[in-house]
Amino acid sequence: MNMVNLKINGIPVTVPENYTILEAAREIGIEIPTLCYMWKMNEIGACRICVVEVKGARSLVASCVYPVSEGMEVQTNTLKIQKARKTTLELILSNHDKNCLSCVRSGSCELQKLCHDFGVDSARFDGDTPKFDIDYSAPHMYRDNNKCILCRRCVAACKAQHVGVIGANDRGFDTHIGCAFDMPLEKVACISCGQCIVNCPTGALSERDDTDKVFEALSDPTKHVIVQTAPSIRVTLGECFGMAPGSIVTGKMVAALKRLGFDKVFDTDFAADLTIMEEANEFLDRVKNGGKLPLITSCSPGWIKFCEMYHPDLLDNLSSCKSPQQMFGAIIKTWYAEKNGIDPKDIVVVSIMPCTAKKFEIGRADQSAAGNGIPDCDIALTTRELARMIERAHIKFDLLPDEEFDNPLGESSGAGVIFGATGGVMEAALRTAVETLEGKPLENIDFTAVRGTQSLKEAELEVAGMKIRVAVASGMESAHELLNKVKSGEAEYHFIEIMGCPGGCINGGGQPVQPASVRSFVDLKKLRSEALYADDRANTIRKSHENPMIKLLYNEYLEKPGSHRAHKILHTTYVNRSKMVVK
Ligand code: SF4
Ligand code: SF4
Ligand code: SF4
Ligand code: FES
Repeated sequence: MNMVNLKINGIPVTVPENYTILEAAREIGIEIPTLCYMWKMNEIGACRICVVEVKGARSLVASCVYPVSEGMEVQTNTLKIQKARKTTLELILSNHDKNCLSCVRSGSCELQKLCHDFGVDSARFDGDTPKFDIDYSAPHMYRDNNKCILCRRCVAACKAQHVGVIGANDRGFDTHIGCAFDMPLEKVACISCGQCIVNCPTGALSERDDTDKVFEALSDPTKHVIVQTAPSIRVTLGECFGMAPGSIVTGKMVAALKRLGFDKVFDTDFAADLTIMEEANEFLDRVKNGGKLPLITSCSPGWIKFCEMYHPDLLDNLSSCKSPQQMFGAIIKTWYAEKNGIDPKDIVVVSIMPCTAKKFEIGRADQSAAGNGIPDCDIALTTRELARMIERAHIKFDLLPDEEFDNPLGESSGAGVIFGATGGVMEAALRTAVETLEGKPLENIDFTAVRGTQSLKEAELEVAGMKIRVAVASGMESAHELLNKVKSGEAEYHFIEIMGCPGGCINGGGQPVQPASVRSFVDLKKLRSEALYADDRANTIRKSHENPMIKLLYNEYLEKPGSHRAHKILHTTYVNRSKMVVK
């Protein structure tokens, strides 16, 4: 690669010739504000917040798309530039619904921050504003185009998921983001992943807020309200309170949930261990008895919807295991309810999840272990909603002491913890399946070949005289690529892990929103997943089948993995939804 020399604000810098001015500036620690830009995802030069002066150029240029050249001299912060950025922001605000006081993104809104930084006059260009109806059709999210700035970051994120159900409709003043023919989101082949939400700079997209339902349940003395927290929440929740990405806040999270008034604070990691018991058993059964292979994991509801819509011919390859969220609810409404003499109708299971698709999953058919229409889980909240509950209760999160999960469903292994990162489910399953196949303790339980945040990974293992080939994909574009290779016979595997979001749950659509400037240049996925593996290493129990509470559950209630009762309570079925896909 040829290198070029240029000066930015008088500072010399040498960068590859394919760099933009924005990338070159960041090499020497000069921050240029952006709004529509997302590194390698949305480089369309639409908003012009990132304009800079280039010596000899007739007008200001958009630094996010303007290439560097030899001898170039750039200024990034002159009065002329500041005035241009301020005017651009005032024009964006001219048709914006400016109710920052109660907006869900107040405090994390990139537009609000820039307006504050540049001292904009919010009423300068006030005029007619189009009034868009808010799309509340889907169970997982809503769209409020009155707060949309047409940056198209959501469109790029949805396309990167190989879904592409949203785009710009109409022209001129009426331009707005929506689905084809302005169909409601619920009616199109959206997989509920929420990647559009975490990439939106404003309050135009958000999860459906279910926090009021939880506060109501907590104040109802007839209800026994139980909360479960997914593996990844402990390494992301701190970001909502200003902590660095990758901070492990398990103890404070538990303390906050106890102060919010939950009757029991349990850990979804327990159910992750349970999933491994059932899934490893299913894998071994298919390998030994000639069942359908490759077996494909089923814990990510975004991936399940993608499979049902875009690859329905692979539904038989899916593991029949419910997701850990649903297994947890199923065990609470059966074993736990019986053990504690509580009518399952009076139990409310609240899940804190990294994922907006979990809001869809709780309403799926065939997710009622207790029968009589009693759902396994009642309310699914995102990490962001939990943070809002903590804020609303005025709990000082950073000052909380560390507290412990309740038992028996608070005990988990390191294998359960790493479910939150891409490759984690595969590694957890291998720790149990390989040990079972070989009939002796593993010498090394770290299956590092399936670790890392890259979107596609594969490995071949020698196990009990057999060659086992495994693959891991995260994000639907990579999954689509992998599955096409499997279907064409180009690649052959025994076991595949697929997670709906790029990087797995640590980067789920319900996780804390970081501005694009951070998302583009800090590897959030790496920091968050490294924290999960550190938590795994710190755990004295690191294999699911060694979790004493899992052993208790099988001894007391389920008998053995794959038993009739385990199958009835913990396994599910899938639906062909391919008719929703517009070809
Ligand atoms: S989207 Fe941002 S600027 Fe608009 S109302 Fe919400 S916080 Fe304020
Ligand atoms: S939730 Fe996912 S699939 Fe649905 S519109 Fe957003 S990015 Fe696209
Ligand atoms: S919905 Fe959000 S991400 Fe999409 S164009 Fe509007 S402001 Fe940008
Ligand atoms: S044009 Fe560069 S950030 Fe929008």
